[in-house]
Order: sequence, then structure tokens, then C-alpha cells
Amino acid sequence: MGSKLDKAIEYENRESKKITEKMRPSFHLTPRTGWMNDPNGFSYFGGLYHIFYQYNPYSTVWGPMHWGHAVSKDLVKWDYVDAAMAPEDSFDEAGCFSGTAIATDDNKHLLIYTGVTKAVKEDGSVEERQDQCIAIGDGITYTKYKNNPVIKSDSLPDGFSKKDFRDPKIWKENGKYYCIIGSRTADGDGKLVTYSSKDAINWDFEKVLYSNNMRHGKMWECPDYVDLGEKKLLIASPQDFEHDDFEFYSGNNTICVIGHLDNGDFVEEKVQTLDNGIDYYAPESIRTEDGRTILIGWMQNWDTCNYRNENLPWFGQFSIPREITLVNDTLYINPIRELKKYYTSTIEYANQLIGSKTVLKGVCGRTLDLTVEIPFISNSENAFNQFKINIAENERYCSSVIFDKINSTVTIDRINSGTRRAVLCNRTCKVDTADNKLKLRLIIDRFSVEVFINDGQRVMSMCIATDVGAEGISFCCDGKAIVNISANCLR
Ligand code: FRU
Repeated sequence: MGSKLDKAIEYENRESKKITEKMRPSFHLTPRTGWMNDPNGFSYFGGLYHIFYQYNPYSTVWGPMHWGHAVSKDLVKWDYVDAAMAPEDSFDEAGCFSGTAIATDDNKHLLIYTGVTKAVKEDGSVEERQDQCIAIGDGITYTKYKNNPVIKSDSLPDGFSKKDFRDPKIWKENGKYYCIIGSRTADGDGKLVTYSSKDAINWDFEKVLYSNNMRHGKMWECPDYVDLGEKKLLIASPQDFEHDDFEFYSGNNTICVIGHLDNGDFVEEKVQTLDNGIDYYAPESIRTEDGRTILIGWMQNWDTCNYRNENLPWFGQFSIPREITLVNDTLYINPIRELKKYYTSTIEYANQLIGSKTVLKGVCGRTLDLTVEIPFISNSENAFNQFKINIAENERYCSSVIFDKINSTVTIDRINSGTRRAVLCNRTCKVDTADNKLKLRLIIDRFSVEVFINDGQRVMSMCIATDVGAEGISFCCDGKAIVNISANCLR
């Protein structure tokens, strides 16, 4: 074990004891101490799900990138294990950046990640380099391969950036390893390149599988490849978007390109975002034993990191793992079904009349799976233009989910959540109201809400910094609405 890793493990073991359960979300993973960004190495190995994360144990801001590590039996509750890697070798001393993991045929857990180094150029200036490295372990400790890097940025086609070449996603197909890596050309255009290998050590450049052609943001980070049979998904997290109506927003976004392969070339059919909210980025996928495709993302975004609860000793959390399915070429995204195991009680209100502000007995708290079905047949008993759910509410604060019937939109809003920073606090997306009803499912877990709309047609996620003492929930509308509510309390 290297000395920086020893130090990090000693630190996280000691400091994490000071963080009580109530200071964290109940079922969303947060860093053991300090800062987390992207999920890494999401995989199944040795009878457990493993997730690693971009990790600076020492501070709640981004810094020297380690890999933190946690394991789970059911993808809902996670147990911390010791950090897996620290940036301390000649091939990664400026950071162990994002990557993925796979179980090898000889039952080892292989991590592939981006090693960041600083190269001194001829003129004496320093330039960052990003190359791909591997580490091999048993699910607990990991040893970096001594001849890293295994994929050097020199292997890229001419004109590709050697300092933006990162986040390998590994998979196995027909007895061979493949990986897809994000890069860009000098004009900033996002490219996804693939490599192949027989042993995960010696890699050959395959091809440029996808070019963004400057349509959706610039550099594409954290690529993923999902094989759904005839259809394939390319998932990535592009930087530097310009606002594009209700699908993509300024800054960093997530994107899913739905397509198929033609002679090994990717043919694009359609693109969509993976989350219309404020805080979601860098998702990684896994295929479960029972064939489900599950995505887990960083429930945060780079431009909104100043929205935070200064009293908390950690920063950054993952989304609830999400099951994704393709129905008629549209992606549906829903919370992992295992969440239901953790319901402690269920309260239901059928045909409940909602007026200007309605509080319902038993519907409150900061750990809740709350579904509201809102039909809108217009008659005098049921006519409204706007329907709002307030959560994390007390006399002073609240965060809201607002359905605007006239414009067919849903807005999430945390402007009154108690932040003293001028950070983006709301987002709006278009929703399908063709059936004259809307279904909202809110997954609330102390410091976040994830809103799943119409059984997964849209998802909107946001962090909520409000102190957990604000537990109120209320329903408001500007006329009258008759709704069905199901509130499942969670452990
Ligand atoms: C995405 C990202 C990755 C990189 C990591 C560094 O959020 O920028 O591209 O590997 O974060 O922490």
C-alpha cells in the first residue's frame, strides 16, 4: 500500500466517526469524508455491488483525486470500505480521475481509470496529460499495474487532445475487452474513441465511434456504452452547452444517444437528456444479474457547487440508482425497485381535494417516496392552472415542484431553501399531458429531491441544503384539484 493511500485511509476512518447517520442522506451515498464527484467502477464483484467515487477526503472542495469505495447488497444501502487508490505514482500523481471496473475471467476486480500527470514542454511550460491506467484487486485492496499507463494519449489520432482524454468505460464482448474514452479535437468538439484488448493490458486503438460535430456542448466526459440488443446507447456528460429550450441547459449536461450499429459504426437515431433538473452528472451504468440496466449519477453539477449546506462535513452525493428502459425508442427512467424494501409505512389519500394550501395528516418528513396523481378534467370541482407541492417546509423555508397546466411544464424550485449564494435555483421542463393527467413521484432524502414524471418520461433532480428540521409538506393550487396521494415513509 502506498503512503498517500495509507494516510487517506487512516484519515477517513478517523474523521468519518464524527459524522452521524442523521447528518447524511438515508439511502443516497455521500463521501465517507470530504468531497465526492463522479461515480466510478460501478460493478458487481464477489457477490456485492461496488461503487467507487472521485474523492478528496481532506476537504469539501475538489482536490487531489483519490478513489473512495463503498459496497452494497441491494444498491440502496451502502457500506463504506477503505479508499482504493490515491494519486501517488508517476503515472497518476496529479489525479486518479474517473473510470470503471470489471470482473475478469480469473476472478479479479479490474479498475481502469485516467491517470493525470504534468508534462514539461520544450518551452518549459507545464501541460497536463491524461492517459489510461489499470489496477487489480480482490474487492478490498487494489494494486496499480506497474507498467501503467496502458493506453497513452499518444495513441490518439492526430489533432486529438492529450490533456482531455479521459474516463474509460470497460466492457467485454466476444472474449475481448473494449473501452470507450472521451476526448476532443482542437476546436473543442467532443469525440468518443474506442480501444480493444485481449488482456486489458495491451490495447489497440479501434476507431472514433462518435463525433458530436459541435451540436451538443463541447468536450464529452464520462462516456458509457449500453448494449440493449438491436439498440445501443451512448451515454456521456458534455461540457459547455448553450441553453437549448427544455431539453438541454447552459453548462454541463448528460446526454443519451439512442442508435444502432451498422458494420461496427454507430448510427445515431435520437438524443435525449437523462435528467432535466439542476443536479445530475457523470452517470455510470451496470447490467444486473436479472438483466436490468441501472444508472447511477453524481447528484450535483459543476456550476452549482456553491449551493451547499455549510454545516455539513461532506459535499456531493449520488442519485438514487435508476432503472432505464427503452419503450418505442424513448428512454424511461425510474427509481430502483429495491427502494420499496425500505418503506416503513404508507399513507394514502384517494380523491383528495386540494385548495389554496392543504396539509395532510401523516404526509411530512425528509425521507419519503411520495406519488401524486393529478387528473385535470375541467369542471367546477376540478379546475386549476397551477398545482404545487412544497417540501422541506417550515415557517421560513420551502422547496417546490410546480405543475403549470397551461404551459404543460414542471418546474423545480429551491429559491426559498435558505441559500445565501446566488446560484441557479430552478429549472423547467416540458411534460406530456396528452392523457389529461400528470403523475409526479418525489424521492425525498434529507438533502435532495428527485422528481420522476409520468412513470419515468422525465426526471428532475436537485439538492436541497435546508436544515433537516424543516419537515413540512403541503399541496397548493390556484383553483381546486382532486388528486390521489401515496406517501411511503422510508427508513
Ligand atoms: C467529470 C470529471 C471527469 C474527470 C473527473 C475529475 O465530472 O471532470 O471527466 O475524470 O471529473 O474529478
